[in-house]
Amino acid sequence: MQQLHSDLWITGSPLRFVGLEIGARMTVVRLPGRELLLHSPISATPDLVREVKALGPVAHIVAPNRFHHLFVGEWQRACPDASIYVAPGLETKRADLAIAGVLGEEPEPGWKGAVDQILLGGFPLANEVVFFHRPSVTLIATDLAFNIGSSSPPLTRLAFRLGGAYGRLSPTLLERLLVRDRTAFRHSLERILEWPFDRVVIAHGEVCEKGGREELVRSYSWVLGGKRVA
Ligand SMILES: [Fe+2]
Repeated sequence: MQQLHSDLWITGSPLRFVGLEIGARMTVVRLPGRELLLHSPISATPDLVREVKALGPVAHIVAPNRFHHLFVGEWQRACPDASIYVAPGLETKRADLAIAGVLGEEPEPGWKGAVDQILLGGFPLANEVVFFHRPSVTLIATDLAFNIGSSSPPLTRLAFRLGGAYGRLSPTLLERLLVRDRTAFRHSLERILEWPFDRVVIAHGEVCEKGGREELVRSYSWVLGGKRVA
């Protein structure tokens, strides 16, 4: 695992999407009481479970959008005391899971004060909930943007170059084509951009350590219109 801050770690695993290797990332937040929040879990291999548990007890397992839920069950089996929280819609799609709560606009009591959250409106295909980790001033998103850069394999780099989305935070075609209610989506984005983050962690591609807010504003200019970065 890579440590980004005293209470924030990331780790990844390979993942192919439409034939391209884009990787998947899990983010681990250590809360003030030392309990851990796992965001967008990847496969719970014995080594990873050991490594994570060394940081603190796993208390919350979060499936932050309707696509990132595949390994939640593995983690719950590995950490039976943890509670599962899912993006809206997963509670019916994953009725097999013992779900403690559906994520909304209000942080759960377990992480309130350390982690804020906003449900991205107007994009029901994903229903992504975006988080802000206050102590590290980090935006923790999932598919809100990809950031495919030099660490990706050649074919992936080529595809993203051709799509004009190489080497920067950039939404995929899904957002371009399938946002249902652009006004609701814009309102959520505007609220996200009020958080004072600079670093952006996303699930696919590289972490954006600096200037993430400005990059999001630029890549979502088609939604935000002429909004300027304060
Ligand atoms: Fe994803």
